[in-house]
Amino acid sequence: MRRTLIPFFAVLFAVVPFVPADILAQAAPQAASPAAVPADAPYKDARLPADRRVADLLSRMTLEEKATMLSGAGWMESAANDRLGIPAIKMADGPLGVRSWAGSSAITNLAGAPLKVLSTSFPSGVDMAATWDTELVQREGQAIAQEVKALGRDMILGPTVNINRVPLWGRNFEGYGEDPYLAARLGVAYVKGVQGEGVIPSVKHFAANNEEFERHRIDEQIDARTLHEIYLPAFKAAVEEGDAWTVMSAYNLVNGVHCGESKALLDEILKKELGFKGFVISDWGSTYSTASTVNAGMDMEMPGGATARAMIVSPRSQLSGNSGTWLAADKVLAEVKAGNISEARLNDNVGRILRVIFVSGLFDHPHTATGEVDTPAQQAVALQGATEGIVLLKNAGSLLPLDAKKIHSIAVIGPNAAVARTGGGGSSMVRPRYSIAPLDGIRTRATGVEVKYALGVGMEGEDPTQDTPEARAKALQEAVDAAAHADVAVVVVGRYSKLEAESFDVKTMDLAAGQDELIEAVEKANPHTIVVLNSGDPVTMTKWIAQTPALLEMWYGGQEGGHALAAILFGDANPSGKLPVSFPKKFEDSPASANYPGVNLKVNYAEGIYVGYRYYDTKNVEPQFPFGFGLSYTTFEYSDLKVTPSQSSGNELANVSLKVKNTGTRAGSEVVQLYVHDGHSKIDRPVRELKGFKRVELKPGETKTVGFTLDRSDLSYWSPEKKAWVADPGTFEIQVGASSRDIRLHAPLELKK
Ligand code: BGC
Repeated sequence: MRRTLIPFFAVLFAVVPFVPADILAQAAPQAASPAAVPADAPYKDARLPADRRVADLLSRMTLEEKATMLSGAGWMESAANDRLGIPAIKMADGPLGVRSWAGSSAITNLAGAPLKVLSTSFPSGVDMAATWDTELVQREGQAIAQEVKALGRDMILGPTVNINRVPLWGRNFEGYGEDPYLAARLGVAYVKGVQGEGVIPSVKHFAANNEEFERHRIDEQIDARTLHEIYLPAFKAAVEEGDAWTVMSAYNLVNGVHCGESKALLDEILKKELGFKGFVISDWGSTYSTASTVNAGMDMEMPGGATARAMIVSPRSQLSGNSGTWLAADKVLAEVKAGNISEARLNDNVGRILRVIFVSGLFDHPHTATGEVDTPAQQAVALQGATEGIVLLKNAGSLLPLDAKKIHSIAVIGPNAAVARTGGGGSSMVRPRYSIAPLDGIRTRATGVEVKYALGVGMEGEDPTQDTPEARAKALQEAVDAAAHADVAVVVVGRYSKLEAESFDVKTMDLAAGQDELIEAVEKANPHTIVVLNSGDPVTMTKWIAQTPALLEMWYGGQEGGHALAAILFGDANPSGKLPVSFPKKFEDSPASANYPGVNLKVNYAEGIYVGYRYYDTKNVEPQFPFGFGLSYTTFEYSDLKVTPSQSSGNELANVSLKVKNTGTRAGSEVVQLYVHDGHSKIDRPVRELKGFKRVELKPGETKTVGFTLDRSDLSYWSPEKKAWVADPGTFEIQVGASSRDIRLHAPLELKK
């Protein structure tokens, strides 16, 4: 039976809000049973606007066909429709390069897994964040998208923009650090890079996925202001500025409801408040109901089909709380027929998926696996990221950079020296064709220098033969001997993908077993010791930091990490990385330590907006190294700060300018940071909040003017009462500096009513 025109249009109008009414008026009535599709059906016409095509295609779909699109067809594919020519969206993890797409995370990361996809391993997210280089992150997104297409896929599951709330979150390495503004800028850059190539990104995990402990069951109590000021801005920016095509919901619960069925998060905040036009995809196995999930605003459940059915009955899923198959077509149809899901809602879900298939170009130009991966251009992006991301934390007596002509021997020591630890564990782990370990990089660079290697201590849990007291004593002694007979010792420590990974948190902020002792012993044997950390999180360093002359953090630098490290050690590149996360002295100093991992599966975000430097700087808790900190082999001088009210009639409030001069003898880049201080507000505010940053490249003696534009939102806080961003009139202070604790210049900014 054909539906009458009036109810159909009423339904369509209610459900695809972004389709203009005049276009809807042209839409054909919905077919109750499949009808032949003419070759010139409007949805096939690439010249027509996407929304017009969506309306046409929706009108040709049966209820069954629509319901089928709400869950995946397998582990990494959405449902295709051959009758109508709707392609499957072929996905791949993400976000640090293209990972194999068959099977679960646990299977595809293991050596010997059935499907090998070898692609460029880009630096970890936290490493890219340490570059503070939005242009580079955009190029990284573009390079990854090119690899996605080259491998015949359509969608990359990233970027990860969750905030580093606790130093122990197993996925801190994937994200962009502790600050919402920095995460927002980098998230937008990544999305733009990916979408510019016609590849679909997925901004994840919405929202507040900040610990892996019981990640399917943990219920986070977060107030509205904290959500808006800390955990949502990166998603907001990705949607509003990046026009992100998809967002992935998180596993955890927020305020008593699983994110995948949270109407408050998906429908009210993401779709209504932020105006998200794309589709929401569930994190893998995170649905718990049919009607409530669909009605909350979930558009596509992943995975689906037989893979999902097998996954949810596995002992692993039962144990962890993984759940799924709730949006399978038969279940959705039953709820539609029972009146619990409206056709309007279904049209909205499917319309969103179709729109992305059209706007991304996927419908008209399907990707076939014909391209090249791991090209020199992609490798160059990975190398630049790894190099710019290395943070020089200490350099007493200018031990660095090393002069290869003056040094005769180097001892390269440590469990992270000879193995390239390219990334943390889990679904972001990429298998590269090659990877450069620190030892490889140093050997290649230090021609003519004798390079000796010693393990020093086995990596905790990696090789049982290294774990006996005898083996440990022997390895330590060999390291001490190597260090004692070398001009310089480089000790590379940290963690690896089995200590720092998705699906569990890091056990302790302390370095893995025996590493503190190794550093202490090597430093005693050789005063010219450089400690290199390869980790995605801050580590405790109180036992040795006072004696350590030089310290670098190289995060997980991807396949080019070893080359990048050698370039920094020998001064071919000048360090310019800045910490995207504060390093506390000890875990107990960190703001959320008292409220982690939670009690009885509930975790209270009682520290509220006081995350990272917002806490350390406001409550006067001295960190080991502050947010935004990083040394260079040159020095920079800041001067002439000017804050002038903007003449523009738009949103702009003020223009800020200052001069930065390279006062040293080497070329280098400085990341100038702009913070806003609100001392007059009626409500409690952190002592400063990052609202701008710029990387400036300067030759020795060179001066450049750096400019920023501020608008009202940069001065605002989220008012739960008004459900809006509010800036209280009065005098703000604009602070400019080289870290959150190294404010070099400040000037007032008056906000009138
Ligand atoms: C992770 C996601 C990932 C998905 C698919 C989940 O376990 O949380 O980030 O994209 O698996 O592998």
